[in-house]
Amino acid sequence: MIEQTFVALKPDAVQRGLTGEIIKRFEQVGMKIVAMKMVWVTPEFSKKHYREHVDKPFYKGLEEFIIQGPVIGMVLEGVSSVDTVRKMVGSTEPKSAAPGTIRGDFSHHSYSYADQKGIPIKNLIHASGNKKDAEYEIALWFTKSEMHNYKTVHEVHTQ
Ligand code: PPS
Repeated sequence: MIEQTFVALKPDAVQRGLTGEIIKRFEQVGMKIVAMKMVWVTPEFSKKHYREHVDKPFYKGLEEFIIQGPVIGMVLEGVSSVDTVRKMVGSTEPKSAAPGTIRGDFSHHSYSYADQKGIPIKNLIHASGNKKDAEYEIALWFTKSEMHNYKTVHEVHTQ
């Protein structure tokens, strides 16, 4: 039941100063941060991270977007964390993302606007889509020594 998932706060979240607000939401829901770092993604690394999307028409814009500034990568641990975090992130297009979700509350960018302007869609955050992707992404972004094992107060109090 307790599992780990990978999250990246994309360059727009960092540049807009929203990282604290977003991380606060994960802490509030009880997710445990077990790894975190700021990384300026390279095109090569982007192709590894988005390996399933490199041949898709939107990939060029996605890569340009993800390498335009530093991102904050983190590993979150909790009950069904992959699904819980995806629910909190909301759907890919901010315009369609429900209020209360991170994308729905902090952006309103749409596919049609992005297409009309010829720009990538800025949707603030990436979260692993399933458990297999989470395992791949955690191993890609973090070494074993960057993953931390500690107890939160909630764990101490429920022992
Ligand atoms: S798919 O084809 O359904 O698997 O694609 P999807 O899951 O919707 O998106 C995969 C990732 O590509 C990002 N994406 C885009 N980025 C920039 N511009 C455009 N137009 C675009 N379309 C899709 C999308 O946000 C997903 O990345 P992450 O980082 O996982 O959110």
